[in-house]
Formats: sequence, structure tokens, C-alpha cells
Amino acid sequence: MKYDFDRVIDRTRTNSMKWNKHFLKYRFESDDVLPLWVADMDFQCPQPVIEALKKRTAEEIYGYSWHKIPAYLDAVTNWMKRRHNWEVNKDWIVFSPGIVPAIYMLIQTFVNIGEKVIIQSPVYNPFFTAIENNGRQVLLNQLLYENKKYSIDFEDFEEKAKDPLTKMFILCSPHNPIGRVWTEKELRRIGDICLDNEILIVSDEIHHDLILSGYKHTLFSTISKEFEQNTFVCTAPSKTFNIAGLQTSNIIISDKRKREAFTNTIVNINGVMLPNVFGIIALIAGYDEGEEWLDQVLKYIEANFKFLKEFVSENLPDVDFIDPEGTFLAWLDFRKLGMNDEELREVMLKKAKVALDDGKIFGPGGEGFQRINIACPRSLLKQCMIRIVKALN
Ligand SMILES: Cc1ncc(COP(=O)(O)O)c(C=O)c1O
Repeated sequence: MKYDFDRVIDRTRTNSMKWNKHFLKYRFESDDVLPLWVADMDFQCPQPVIEALKKRTAEEIYGYSWHKIPAYLDAVTNWMKRRHNWEVNKDWIVFSPGIVPAIYMLIQTFVNIGEKVIIQSPVYNPFFTAIENNGRQVLLNQLLYENKKYSIDFEDFEEKAKDPLTKMFILCSPHNPIGRVWTEKELRRIGDICLDNEILIVSDEIHHDLILSGYKHTLFSTISKEFEQNTFVCTAPSKTFNIAGLQTSNIIISDKRKREAFTNTIVNINGVMLPNVFGIIALIAGYDEGEEWLDQVLKYIEANFKFLKEFVSENLPDVDFIDPEGTFLAWLDFRKLGMNDEELREVMLKKAKVALDDGKIFGPGGEGFQRINIACPRSLLKQCMIRIVKALN
């Protein structure tokens, strides 16, 4: 079927975190802003997902549910094989209600208090809190930024990896917020440094299905068996099919000892074992029948990026648009305007009345940037950009 992503769906009457007035007031101190922030899409979900959920709701009982059933496990393993060329054994799949809680628990399990975890800022901000709130230390390997392009500072990474207190690296692949899809060469180099220094890798691949044309995502564990054994691959259908609120993700761990240690933390220590009744259904429908929707939504996202790039070059000559390779998050550099972060935030929220994510929240290197979630009808994106142009003029 042909989906209509131009359709504006009123989400204000739902409890959408992105659109709900109470949440906007709490988060942005203002509830009359156009929200293009948190990473979910303003598009209708794939029809097979909607149909499967409707069928399940019609059953009228929503008790405890169990996911280790062939349909669920097959859906995950088939998806990984079909879309990512990764042969996953069903035993490797560990359920988690989210990738963020899984990262917290991976740190608690494999890194001792006071030890260090490498992350590459600017990066998804919960990586910082997951490390710091647990009494572990952030070791920053800030990304290099030159000529509107990001790359990894391998020399710095190697130096930090050699620190005897460094135990883990959290890879964001594709990278939120800067939109890089790391090449196999880059991943191999970083993975080798980690192996040489006995550093565990958490590969957060929540955006791995959102790759723009011309780019190829390499699932980290497909690079070599050694990488696979050293890695916790964090996967989910949540960004892929716009079902983040169903809180269903899978941490795929091939090494038995590591898997048992993580399972002990998540199940025995934290009592997390049962997925959401609707999450199970949506995952199966998405992975089994959602590809047609995904292919269409990717085309729309790509066209939104193209629109934004042209709009910025025509109307905001002092703002740099960073060419994305994946995700649905645009990353714009406002630094030439000479405003500090507070002034920039003030302009966006008070003058333009748009709610975006301040680059600063993603750590060093994010100052002066804004992240815009472009997974919305083009008319909303256009409205947002017109407001920004007017505010800056
Ligand atoms: C890189 C990354 N990891 C994790 C998440 C959230 O994961 P979850 O909702 O499964 O906790 C996001 C959401 O934006 C993300 O961008």
C-alpha cells in the first residue's frame, strides 16, 4: 500500500511526550511551541502493525505476556539476517524494555565503580548519565569536526583505551546526533583497539534500519567472530517502525558468559523479564511485514533532508547543514551567528517558538548546534524553518 506521510496527525490529544502540553511546559517551560525534538516520528505506523495491535486489543484481556515464542524469536533473527546479514542464534537474544535501561545495566554489570567508559561526543545524552549516575567515569573521545564532516580521533581513542581503568566503549552506530553511518573500515579499526586493550563494546544500533541511500550500515558483530564475542548489540524495532512507546528491545549477546552475567543483572537483580503485551505483537508484525512501510518512510525522510538542506542554503546562509548518512535527525551548526547557547535557546523557544534539542545537551562539541527531528510531515518541517528564519531576522 502507499502511505501518506504528508498527513498531519494531531498528537496533542494523546500522551505523546513530544506533543503533550504538560510535558512541553515541564521540559521547555513553554507549551505553545512546535515540537521537532525527541526521536519519534509523526507518521502513522505500518498498517500491519496497526492491524496486529487492533486484533490483539479485540481479545479484551491484556495479562502478562511471554516473548520467547517461535514467532518473536524468528522475527528478530530473520530481520537480522535479511536486513543486516547477521546470523543470530535465538539463545543470544535478551529482552529489555529499552536500550537506555539496558545500557545502565550493562555498565552496572561489567564496569566497576570508579572505572571508565569511552563515549564519543557529541552523542546521545543518556550515555553520560548512564555512566555518571552509576559512579563510573566518562572518558571522552570527542569526534573530530572539519569541513562539515565528522570523523573519529583514533589516536586519542587508542590513548584512552590504554588507560588501565577503561573497561567499556559505548558505540553509537549510526551516530545520534551527527548522523554518521560508520564505515566498516572505521568500525574495524575501533574494534581492534578495543580487543587489544580488553575493552568491552556496547554497540547501540537503535537507528540501524534508518540508512540513507548511498550509505551502508555495517552491523558491528558481522565484522568478525572476535568482535561478535566482545560486543553487546543493542537493537530494537522502536525507531524503525515508530513504536518506541511499546518499550521492546533486544540486546543480542553471543558470548555465553557475558550473556549470563547480563541476564543475571536484568532478570535476577532488577526483576525485568516480561515484555509489554503489545510490544511483542508490534515487533513481530513490524519485522515480518513492515518492510514496505520502512522503504517508503526512508524515501520521505530523505526528501525531508533534501528540502531542509536547500531551505537552509537559501534562507540561512550563516547556518551549516551537516549532510546526514542515517537516522532522521538533522544537525545544524549555528555558531557563525555568534550567539551563546542560552541566547540560541531563547531565540528558538521564545522567538521562533519551536522546541528542538540544544546541541549542548549532547556534550562537548555540541555547543552552538541544534538537533531537529525531521520525521514529520514536510509542512511541519517547513513551518518550523520559516519560524526560525523570521526569528533570526
Ligand atoms: C542512540 C539511541 N539509543 C537509545 C535510544 C532510546 O532507546 P530506548 O527508548 O529503547 O531506551 C535513543 C532514542 O532516541 C537513541 O537515539
